[in-house]
Amino acid sequence: MKAKFPDGFYWGGATAANQLEGAHQANGKGMSISDLLLGGDVKTPRRITTEIEEGAFYPSHEAIDHFHRYKEDIALFAEMGFKLYRFSIAWTRIFPTGLEKVPNEEGLKFYDDLIAELKKYEIEPMVSLSHYESPIEMTKQFNGWESREMIEAYERFAKTVIDRYQDDVRYWLTFNEINILSRDVGVGTYLGGGMYPKDIDDFLNTKNIDNSQQRFQALHHQFVASARVIKYAKSLHKNLHMGCMIAYRMIYPLSSHPEDIRFAQEMTNISNFYCGDVQVKGRYPYFAKKFWQDRGIDLTIEAGDLEVLKEGTVDFYTFSYYQSSTVTKVNDQAEKQTGNFFNGVKNPHLTASEWGWEIDPLGLRIALNQIYERYEIPLMVVENGLGAIDTLIEKNGEYTVEDDYRIDYLRRHIKAMADAIADGVDLIGYTSWGPIDLVSAGTGQMAKRYGFIYVDKHDNGTGSLARYKKKSFYWYKKVIQSNGEGVN
Ligand code: BG6
Repeated sequence: MKAKFPDGFYWGGATAANQLEGAHQANGKGMSISDLLLGGDVKTPRRITTEIEEGAFYPSHEAIDHFHRYKEDIALFAEMGFKLYRFSIAWTRIFPTGLEKVPNEEGLKFYDDLIAELKKYEIEPMVSLSHYESPIEMTKQFNGWESREMIEAYERFAKTVIDRYQDDVRYWLTFNEINILSRDVGVGTYLGGGMYPKDIDDFLNTKNIDNSQQRFQALHHQFVASARVIKYAKSLHKNLHMGCMIAYRMIYPLSSHPEDIRFAQEMTNISNFYCGDVQVKGRYPYFAKKFWQDRGIDLTIEAGDLEVLKEGTVDFYTFSYYQSSTVTKVNDQAEKQTGNFFNGVKNPHLTASEWGWEIDPLGLRIALNQIYERYEIPLMVVENGLGAIDTLIEKNGEYTVEDDYRIDYLRRHIKAMADAIADGVDLIGYTSWGPIDLVSAGTGQMAKRYGFIYVDKHDNGTGSLARYKKKSFYWYKKVIQSNGEGVN
């Protein structure tokens, strides 16, 4: 059966400023938390420094230099037929420390130009307001989202860009993978919350220490900030579509033991529904109170906060999906699985990528049904893809990559989306992650490539930055041209 997608389905790609722009000090840009992250690899966690260390290599500083090459890159996206492009506006280009009262015009200029370029090709822009890029100065002054001070600073930034682009940008996401703060992963606390857990020294030495009181308080601040911005955007009466973005963790129990089933349910609640419910339904879920009590979490919720959450709910739900995750309560012999900010045990029915991420297209169909059943609002998959090692070869006088493994991964996930649509799910778009090779958030590597476009840039910082079309470039172009039917 041919894959069927609704007319006007948004095919495209997604990126984040800190992972591709580079030019980290150009035109008055300030430093974000990502600018202090060194590179790592699948076995070595990324190290975080408090200042720039002489001679150290920071992958975000040049990244793939999209800042100077955005025209060339967008022309390639247009050649593939993109209908929508998701990117983030780097907060520190607009408010270099986050504390300024007046925005940096030169920083805004870059996004004026970028959005104009997208419009030229009739590509719909979708903006992530916060994608692991909070200003480092705010981490230094009050430990990022642990403090309520962030709400006002974020609002100032968000309102500035919404005011400026309200006629050109209709789709906005308030926080990338907001639920990263519901997981006890050190680097997630730093990237998502712009903060160090209490023991900074241990944290800098990459010991995975946790502080759940702090994480959930920070999340509360982000919920309030997101809701306030959504309420503001709606007051403009411009038909702006405001969305949430969740790192969806499709969780399976390892066995049919009721303890495993209950554990998977508990993890699903906290990993996915805790944030989703607040942002879609406008209130904390029924299980939140017991969850807080069990962990000794005592949230400070100020007068008016709960009303704001009710008033600032999202219009559509977006999420990232790369892999599923399997958990057990009863089998302590089960082999551990490592992956993107998730952990769990190995699923005997799945194979994994070179980075250990378990490949599970059917899990995407299940996730789409699970989310839609709960919320019944339009959904969009805004990140999905295969991070893999690519080899550049010369063929018929041109450089390319024969990335059949990537085509196979994407094909199976796109088919799973078509199945979910046939199930009745209202899915409105798909933006694959990193349509052009960029810096990995998890490891800081260039070697972990997701793109349809190869970028000649390497983990030691060398490379000409030249762009080359991979085999998947032509395949994705066909998929878009045929509105999904050509996926086979
Ligand atoms: C998501 C993030 O977690 O996964 C992206 O929103 C990230 O920023 C993507 O790049 C893929 O993860 P990684 O670690 O392979 O870059």
